[in-house]
Amino acid sequence: MRIFIDSANIEEIKAANDLGIISGVTTNPSLIAREGRNFRQVVEEIAAIVDGPISAEVISTEAGAMIAEALELAAIHPNIVIKIPMLAEGLKAVKELAAQGIKTNVTLVFSANQALLAALAGATYVSPFVGRLDDINHDGMQVIADIVPIYAQYGLETQVIAASIRHPLHVLQAARLGADIATVPYKVIMQMVKHPLTDAGLARFLADWEKVKDK
Ligand code: E4P
Repeated sequence: MRIFIDSANIEEIKAANDLGIISGVTTNPSLIAREGRNFRQVVEEIAAIVDGPISAEVISTEAGAMIAEALELAAIHPNIVIKIPMLAEGLKAVKELAAQGIKTNVTLVFSANQALLAALAGATYVSPFVGRLDDINHDGMQVIADIVPIYAQYGLETQVIAASIRHPLHVLQAARLGADIATVPYKVIMQMVKHPLTDAGLARFLADWEKVKDK
């Protein structure tokens, strides 16, 4: 399973990229708003840092307007993937963008049926939001568990991005279930790095080395 960073913060994206473990970036309007910066400028800066798919979301809700926005965003950099909300109009836009060779990431997906429709429309990626389902007392990971075998059974090539990841266990579960990608906030990436036994083990190695280093 690959890991994308779910962030529009340039410092976080640089730091995660330096670790050598991320292969893409996802943004959304809320993440951009959190930075309080110009959308296009943020996307350009991300594209200069990460050599991989960068999802940038349209804000229109009608197919024609989504397509017009998508064409503008896609012109920013060849790695831009257009994030399209899971609406009937969104499916129409995905079909047209796929016909034009533009990659899409269907977002705000909360059921396997929505994911099936997104794949049939020609989405490159689909983003089920596991954390937001957990928040309302549903089993978010079950949606990943449903989508992965359905896509495999019918040879659908759309890649599954486990999104709305809240903690390291979500990443582990997504990997076990065969998600292609998890898009992970920086804080959770750093939580994945850490283990108390690693810290304790290193402290002991260094302390023992001190005893013999001059011998
Ligand atoms: C990524 O594509 C999604 O926009 C993001 O993971 C949503 O996460 P949230 O539910 O924490 O806002």
